[in-house]
Amino acid sequence: MEALYIFTWILHLVFIVSQVSSEPFEDKQALLDFVNNLPHFRSLNWNESSPVCNNWTGVKCSGDGSRIVAVRLPGVGFSGQIPPNTISRLSALKILSLRSNIISGYFPSDFVNLRSLCYLYLQFNNFSGPLPDFSVWKNLTIVNLSNNGFNGTIPLSLLNLTQLQALYLANNSLSGEIPDLKLPSLQQLNLSNNNLSGSIPESLKKFPTSVFGGNNITFDESSAPRASPDVAPSSESNLRPKNGRRIGETALLGIIIAAAVLGLLAFVFLIIACRVRRKREDGFVGTLQKREMSPEKMVSRNQDASNRLFFFEGCNYAFDLEDLLRASAEVLGKGTFGMAYKAILEDATTVVVKRLKEVNVGKRDFEQQMEIVGNIRHENVVELKAYYYSKDEKLMVYDYFSQGSVSSMLHGKRGEGKIPLDWDTRIRIAIGTARGIARIHAETGGKLVHGNIKSSNIFLNSQQYGCVSDLGLTTITNSLAPVISRAAGYRAPEVTDTRKAAQPSDVYSFGVVLLELLTGKSPIHTTGGDELVHLVRWVHSVVREEWTAEVFDVELLRYPNIEEEMVEMLQIALACVVRMPDQRPKMPEVVKMIENVRRIDADNRPSSENKSESSTPPPPVVAEN
Ligand SMILES: *[C@@H]1O[C@H](CO)[C@@H](O)[C@H](O)[C@H]1NC(C)=O
Ligand SMILES: *[C@@H]1O[C@H](CO)[C@@H](O)[C@H](O)[C@H]1NC(C)=O
Ligand SMILES: *[C@@H]1O[C@H](CO)[C@@H](O)[C@H](O)[C@H]1NC(C)=O
Ligand SMILES: *[C@@H]1O[C@H](CO)[C@@H](O)[C@H](O)[C@H]1NC(C)=O
Ligand SMILES: *[C@@H]1O[C@H](CO)[C@@H](O)[C@H](O)[C@H]1NC(C)=O
Ligand SMILES: *[C@@H]1O[C@H](CO)[C@@H](O)[C@H](O)[C@H]1NC(C)=O
Ligand SMILES: *[C@@H]1O[C@H](CO)[C@@H](O)[C@H](O)[C@H]1NC(C)=O
Ligand SMILES: *[C@@H]1O[C@H](CO)[C@@H](O)[C@H](O)[C@H]1NC(C)=O
Ligand SMILES: *[C@@H]1O[C@H](CO)[C@@H](O)[C@H](O)[C@H]1NC(C)=O
Ligand SMILES: *[C@@H]1O[C@H](CO)[C@@H](O)[C@H](O)[C@H]1NC(C)=O
Ligand SMILES: *[C@@H]1O[C@H](CO)[C@@H](O)[C@H](O)[C@H]1NC(C)=O
Repeated sequence: MEALYIFTWILHLVFIVSQVSSEPFEDKQALLDFVNNLPHFRSLNWNESSPVCNNWTGVKCSGDGSRIVAVRLPGVGFSGQIPPNTISRLSALKILSLRSNIISGYFPSDFVNLRSLCYLYLQFNNFSGPLPDFSVWKNLTIVNLSNNGFNGTIPLSLLNLTQLQALYLANNSLSGEIPDLKLPSLQQLNLSNNNLSGSIPESLKKFPTSVFGGNNITFDESSAPRASPDVAPSSESNLRPKNGRRIGETALLGIIIAAAVLGLLAFVFLIIACRVRRKREDGFVGTLQKREMSPEKMVSRNQDASNRLFFFEGCNYAFDLEDLLRASAEVLGKGTFGMAYKAILEDATTVVVKRLKEVNVGKRDFEQQMEIVGNIRHENVVELKAYYYSKDEKLMVYDYFSQGSVSSMLHGKRGEGKIPLDWDTRIRIAIGTARGIARIHAETGGKLVHGNIKSSNIFLNSQQYGCVSDLGLTTITNSLAPVISRAAGYRAPEVTDTRKAAQPSDVYSFGVVLLELLTGKSPIHTTGGDELVHLVRWVHSVVREEWTAEVFDVELLRYPNIEEEMVEMLQIALACVVRMPDQRPKMPEVVKMIENVRRIDADNRPSSENKSESSTPPPPVVAEN
């Protein structure tokens, strides 16, 4: 008995030691204590034996993996009171989101231990009782306690929060007068629908009156916002001197003029930006203004549960629509089916959000298609992480690939600073992409069609193999692509309506991608004059005249002993782009053929390291076109 006890104890100790070296064991235990003692109806993938960092849903660790810094569990269905001494042990926690659950009870008193807290989202729960003493969280930046049952007064301790940018207390039962919240950083506020009384303090008169609505507050004449509600709060608070003194009249005039000038500049910039965007189909990168993706526009007013982001199982993200909307965003480009944005969430998670236009099916069909696409789990298919469907907005969320697409790798600015894609990488792109498409073609009883294969939809996975994205949208959208667009060069001759794409047309498009990898040329490019040249036709013409290296990318010439492989790959590509759909090989055959090219490589050639060492000629200066 005794011996057994000691044995298990030692085992436990070994376990602890092995865990400590690799991950924050105590933080992990705190989370397990939390989740095991608070009922919830959505299951979490929090397996005790899997690593907490990068694996548990909604959990983020610090860069060195020593502490947990973010816990985001919106809409998990937690009900009851937060068990004491659980979450509060995560003393390095910066972000806590438990929004949209049914958590009740008072604000947990042990949260005072979360000294590093920056973002606190507890909105849409069933908390009650007084608000806490805020002075302990010196770094609090966003506080969202709206839509709960908090009562009592708004505490003066908020004045300690010099970093506070957003304070949402709407839809509670707060009473008493609103304190004079002279907070230098405060930019967003909503106190509506409480039981507050008195008048609006001087420091908060810059906010629109809607943030005080639904209270018993007297609005005197001077309490009206001084400028248009849209512009006043942020611009004023940004320009306000840090020490918070009242601004003199001349200074105010200066600010107004400056604001006007800035506004004009912004307007001019916007117009220029729009022009530039119109000129270049792809690659426009600009900052997406909040306005473009504003919450008012995208979140429908009814907060019903069906209107949430839908995440696929095993997804490691824990953000919701609001996070996404608040994220800083950048336009990545205009794709065939709508705009793509890069969104950086406040915890630095980066995702790609595609905003679909012209979806021509209802919610049921859309969801069904997303279900098919989202459940394809393959290393060569870019995972769909989440989607959102409402009447006005359809979003798809994918991982972000910092290296950019194969298109940008191939056709990005050449010359100085450009790292040429070597042959090995190109082969890996070809093999990976082929395997990904073959996997897609095996879906729904061997019927699923990708429908939009092009190099700008291909990325490199963590093993640097090709990985395809943007699949399965042709059947549910009216393609936006105008006739002469980038996609046009990939379209098989038999496809007149993109919605009617079939698997052989995917094979054709893949063949064009192979040609792109081999030639380094865009599927539609110009030679010398204004003449548009179709890549497939161009390759055919070169090959017909003389089977030479003319056709291959100049960047590839510096790698020795690859001609044979390139020629073989060219034959595969040409087999894919034959005119008659039924004469094209099936995707699994294409995979086998490309894998055979690699086998030659493995048997007969030195490894890639040796090769790159032995070949040091300077990159040839390339003039495209
Ligand atoms: C946890 O992971 C282990 C091994 O990784 C597995 O055997 C076990 O079934 C998992 N448990 C749950 C509840 O998923
Ligand atoms: C988490 O780890 C388990 C086993 O340890 C693994 O099966 C699973 O794929 C991992 N999940 C993620 C999202 O990394
Ligand atoms: C607050 O933030 C500052 C700057 O990021 C940091 O140095 C400090 O340690 C933080 N305070 C706490 C209690 O985490
Ligand atoms: C929320 O709390 C109130 C009492 O504070 C209770 O009457 C109500 O049932 C709770 N709602 C839920 C969904 O638990
Ligand atoms: C706070 O929650 C409300 C919903 O009650 C939402 O409208 C608002 O955007 C949130 N604000 C922040 C900064 O989280
Ligand atoms: C706040 O609500 C609690 C019950 O949730 C009640 O006991 C308390 O008296 C209320 N306090 C105020 C100031 O209304
Ligand atoms: C900051 O918090 C402390 C402790 O609660 C309090 O004594 C002090 O008055 C607060 N400062 C301000 C400016 O409210
Ligand atoms: C408060 O609740 C009302 C009705 O439930 C809702 O329309 C409003 O958006 C909520 N306000 C905030 C700021 O969440
Ligand atoms: C609102 O506050 C007044 C006193 O200011 C109080 O008489 C009334 O009961 C409160 N209403 C609610 C719904 O709490
Ligand atoms: C504050 O919330 C109310 C609803 O509770 C809403 O009508 C109002 O527009 C919000 N104001 C701002 C500035 O968000
Ligand atoms: C609103 O406030 C005034 C005084 O500020 C008070 O006389 C009145 O009873 C309050 N109304 C409600 C509904 O609480």
